[in-house]
Amino acid sequence: MHSETDHTPAPLERQAQWLQAYRPGLRVHEQGRVVSVGDGVAWISGLPAAAMDEILTLGDGSQAMVCDLTEERIGAVILRDGQGITAGAAVQRSGRFMSLPVSDALLGRVIDPLGAPLDGGAEPARTRWQPLEAGSPPIMARDFVHRPLYTGIKIIDTMIPIGKGQRQLIVGDEGLGRSSLALDAVINQRGRDVYCIYVMIGQKRSTVVNTIATLREFDALQYTTLVVAEASSLPGLQHLAPFAGCALGEFWMRQGRDVLVVYDDLSTHAKTYRELSLLLRRPPGREAYPGDIFSVHARLLERATCLNAAHGGGTMTALPIVETQLGEIAAYIPTNLISITDGQIYLDQELFAGGFRPAIDIGRSVSRIGGQAQHPRIKEEAGHMKLDYLQFQELEVFTRFGARLEASMEALINRGRILRELLKQDRLAPLPPAFQLGWLVAFNEGLVNSAEPGAVAAFLAALQALLEHSALSLDSPRADWVAALRELLENASEAAPPP
Ligand SMILES: Nc1ncnc2c1ncn2[C@@H]1O[C@H](COP(=O)(O)OP(=O)(O)O)[C@@H](O)[C@H]1O
Ligand SMILES: [Mg+2]
Repeated sequence: MHSETDHTPAPLERQAQWLQAYRPGLRVHEQGRVVSVGDGVAWISGLPAAAMDEILTLGDGSQAMVCDLTEERIGAVILRDGQGITAGAAVQRSGRFMSLPVSDALLGRVIDPLGAPLDGGAEPARTRWQPLEAGSPPIMARDFVHRPLYTGIKIIDTMIPIGKGQRQLIVGDEGLGRSSLALDAVINQRGRDVYCIYVMIGQKRSTVVNTIATLREFDALQYTTLVVAEASSLPGLQHLAPFAGCALGEFWMRQGRDVLVVYDDLSTHAKTYRELSLLLRRPPGREAYPGDIFSVHARLLERATCLNAAHGGGTMTALPIVETQLGEIAAYIPTNLISITDGQIYLDQELFAGGFRPAIDIGRSVSRIGGQAQHPRIKEEAGHMKLDYLQFQELEVFTRFGARLEASMEALINRGRILRELLKQDRLAPLPPAFQLGWLVAFNEGLVNSAEPGAVAAFLAALQALLEHSALSLDSPRADWVAALRELLENASEAAPPP
């Protein structure tokens, strides 16, 4: 009306305009009610427009996530327990989906899957909210895994190498050292500019406390975040824990950083998800797990990748851990995870009992893509050594029957025994790549052939001491390595007292 004039309408006039334009309409405000509650799950009526995975706020300040939608009612998993939820309590939609407040301030912190601090510290600062459920990076944004991620473990870095952006499963019975391997890998990232996330799902508080203490002792907490949902936490939180860890990893990966995420462990996660699904009355499938457990784990692990340069070149390496019963890798959850990941490290009960630690079964462990990222020198030397080892394992079976062997076989077996000693490694003692090359060259050159198995530990210690002040590196010529190792072994045999 006043479009051609430049005078602004007086307040009264403006009110009149507003009244003229006003159209009365319905403003819908949905309110639901809790019908029943128990075991970490609430059944709710009302809220016809609620969406799957949406966060609901309950009257007492509790929070729940929609996990089951039917026409009559909603099944929601409780995430935060307020004053105590009762039947009849009011429920409101939040219109939001699960997300984690993330920032660099999370380094060195222990948080729950919703981002609340568990270490008694202040609320960590937040740069942004990172969604817990997100699509995995598209194929066009991905690159081949091409840079090594060193775990510091002899067997892994030489024969089952892991590349940045790889998903490598650690599988084995309880108590065989799965968590120890993952923890070693985290500790070994000190000074390597890799941010680590250690997700603990459904573990005892004492284990959580020990893990934090170990990380602190080895100066690894400064570049690590722990995402913890203990055994006593709400099942909904335990279910979200790996997704929270993954979301934080994604935040850093998108900034072009290298990230290592450990999921300890996904068997417990699968069991929690089974428990929730049964409570939500979903039909059980194989081993009573819900039919979508495969897709839940695939969605999680597909988000770990190596981004290409156009997308910042960040990487997220995932080390999921899974438990077997009596070494049965054909069980439902282990086979699922083996098929989703890029390889597995298999820990064996018999090896562990026989004193071979880390108890990695080299014959049954594989890394399908890590070889491309391995340093060519280590790759070459390790190839020879692995053949020797597998051959030795076959031959050793014969010696158990007390069969007489030819002298050449005897020599091979002796060499194998020395190799087995070389491969043993204590936990919390990760070793640098140059060290790996050193012992590989010594073994392949036959420099340690005449050593007694008992003398191997002394050789390894001497090698470690040598590398502390020597200029030998992965790029030094092989001849230099051989000369230095020869000298080292000669000095050692001179120093040893005569028998
Ligand atoms: N390389 C190793 N050398 C000696 N002992 C080890 C080694 N790795 C693990 N262990 C021991 O094995 C036990 C179980 O280890 P842990 O990592 O907790 O197993 P898991 O996570 O598979 O249950 C621990 O007592 C640990 O000290
Ligand atoms: Mg463990």
